[in-house]
Amino acid sequence: AAAAATAAPDKAAAPASAGFMEEGIPAAGESEPFIKLGGLSDHVEGILRCRRIVFIACGTSYHACLVARKTLEEFAAMPVVVELAGDFMDREAPVFRDDTCVFVSQSGETADTLRALEYAKAKGALCVGITNTVGSAISNATHCGVHLNAGFEIGVASTKAYTSQIVALTMMALLLGADSRAKMPKRIAAMRALARLPDDAREVLELDASMHKLAEQLKDAQSLIFFGRGYNFSTALEAALKVKEVALIHSEGINAGEMKHGPLALVDENLPIVVIATQDAMHRKMESVIQQLLARSAKLVILCNTGDDAMTQFEGRGCTLIRVPRTVDALQPIINIIPLQLLSYHLTTLRGFNVDQPRNLAKSVTVT
Ligand code: M6R
Repeated sequence: AAAAATAAPDKAAAPASAGFMEEGIPAAGESEPFIKLGGLSDHVEGILRCRRIVFIACGTSYHACLVARKTLEEFAAMPVVVELAGDFMDREAPVFRDDTCVFVSQSGETADTLRALEYAKAKGALCVGITNTVGSAISNATHCGVHLNAGFEIGVASTKAYTSQIVALTMMALLLGADSRAKMPKRIAAMRALARLPDDAREVLELDASMHKLAEQLKDAQSLIFFGRGYNFSTALEAALKVKEVALIHSEGINAGEMKHGPLALVDENLPIVVIATQDAMHRKMESVIQQLLARSAKLVILCNTGDDAMTQFEGRGCTLIRVPRTVDALQPIINIIPLQLLSYHLTTLRGFNVDQPRNLAKSVTVT
């Protein structure tokens, strides 16, 4: 069964936990770090030879794939396409036998993703599953893959699966990029950052009380906009999905590079906007976005790194700053989404809604 080809749980990418280091990433100061994903090891050569990687997923899992696209481009220089499973099937998009199709799904049961898997498999592509549910339809039907081991996710809103998906997909990108000598220093830095991730996550969770306070200020907003770009375009999309899904506030995640192509018209002193401006490669551009939004009297919340002095000036201009620890660019979306998940949680409870069971939604969408 394909399930047997999928990574055994004890060998697969683990969520950010102490056990993580035991699975192949020594702490700084120890011997050279390495990545091991048991469920992929027999297929690495095949994946490296493929024409392109096609990620296929829905909802939050799709957002994790958007992060993975950039990580694979950065560390493995591979051509990557990201597809919404439903749209992919509506188009009956071309799939080639030398494609690697990666199906990402928390439940492993999402009907659109499963249908796309059957379609890609029939076309002869190598099918990889990244799921959180051992024995699920997607994990059983794929040729190989990784189990997240994030633990059973109860609430309808996907949270720990999202961060774990990014961890697993980053590990996959680092594995596929292992032969690049030019990327080696960056790769080692990313592996060391993966090992530090649990501490960074613990630190960012301390923002809970601040997020509650911010939620009190935003709970009656009609709409909430998130701007991000690069790795954090996904953070903007995911934060907006969480806010609309559980807090039932209209919300949009917008690529800040598109700001002048329409969204800027919405900006005034009444529309709350969260700008994700951590110190990655997009930092300068995001600083300029903030300046342009402030010139239109925007009401801003800025998510930035601890110790980023360039952002301090904006406090004096009426902006609220959320400070998060700095990690490598590829992992920063994991840290950045946590306070925004907390914000969504507090908005939901303050507005009197059920955070685990949002109206009209099911945990697993098993019909197309
Ligand atoms: O189980 P899956 O990851 O395949 O589910 C995909 C989406 O239905 C899911 O991520 C949905 O968007 C979440 N409720 C978002 O929080």
